[in-house]
Amino acid sequence: KLISIIGMPMDLGQGRRGVDMGPSAIRYAAAQDELIRLGHDVEDLGNLPVPSPESSIIENQNLKYLKEVAEACEQLAETVSQVVERGRFPLVFGGDHSIAIGTIAGVAKHYKNLGVIWYDAHGDLNTEETSPSGNIHGMSLAASLGVGHPSLVQCGGYAPKVRPENIVLIGTRELDPGEKELIRQLGIRVFTMHEIDRLGMARVMDEAIHIVSKDTDGVHLSLDLDGLDPKDCPGVGTPVPGGISYRESHLAMEILAEANILTSAEFVEVNPILDQANQTAKVAVALMGSAFGKKIL
Ligand code: ARG
Ligand code: MN
Ligand code: MN
Ligand code: MN
Repeated sequence: KLISIIGMPMDLGQGRRGVDMGPSAIRYAAAQDELIRLGHDVEDLGNLPVPSPESSIIENQNLKYLKEVAEACEQLAETVSQVVERGRFPLVFGGDHSIAIGTIAGVAKHYKNLGVIWYDAHGDLNTEETSPSGNIHGMSLAASLGVGHPSLVQCGGYAPKVRPENIVLIGTRELDPGEKELIRQLGIRVFTMHEIDRLGMARVMDEAIHIVSKDTDGVHLSLDLDGLDPKDCPGVGTPVPGGISYRESHLAMEILAEANILTSAEFVEVNPILDQANQTAKVAVALMGSAFGKKIL
């Protein structure tokens, strides 16, 4: 594959400092070398500019740093879109999960029907009305579905980016009341930890792949490292116990690689300040390896 790495040092979508260093941590864990070793052509476009919280002010407690997040996502959408136009695979390093608004806006422009895999402890299906925190990283999937504040929903100048029947959530274990309601209302397929335990990751991935590739012409993987168990990935801002294991996650990525359906991906929420010796970034790179074709034998 022809892969273009884009770093998005965003930490305005949530409350804890450090996730802006996620792209550096992932690069330090040798992401590019790993992908080159697997035979891919990899270019790194560097980081996009994102304002720091010190130079910004919160105007609305229900939508913190709305203007800054929306502007940065517009830039990301433009950059990602150009990568797709050049026939390359956009691989975005976060940064908090609000950046998915920009990544998906940039990708979805080029597909009639984009499938999305949301690998995460959370649904990120809040709006300013339902969010308990006002943090935009908890609203990015809703915004991509066309639900929420116009500055987020209209990223890239069009909406919605994805349809509810073309997305799956995997690893879900913490949902706010308004998110549960939206899931029911839109009929979104959710593979919670219960389904992973009960069916096993192999079957979950088979069903998930069926859903995101049925009647779609592209598939985006949005992988929030907090989807994994905090024992394996301690460097995240919103850890939730009882998560997907390291092994299950490798299996999931290997099954995705075999299916060969991905057209873009992002790895988000790596926070090196909260991490232990860059472990979470290393897991991110290891999972990238599997997703891009690494095999043991
Ligand atoms: N549901 C909570 C909120 O809206 C937590 C969201 C966590 N999202 C994330 N991308 N880590 O604030
Ligand atoms: Mn998330
Ligand atoms: Mn999460
Ligand atoms: Mn479909």
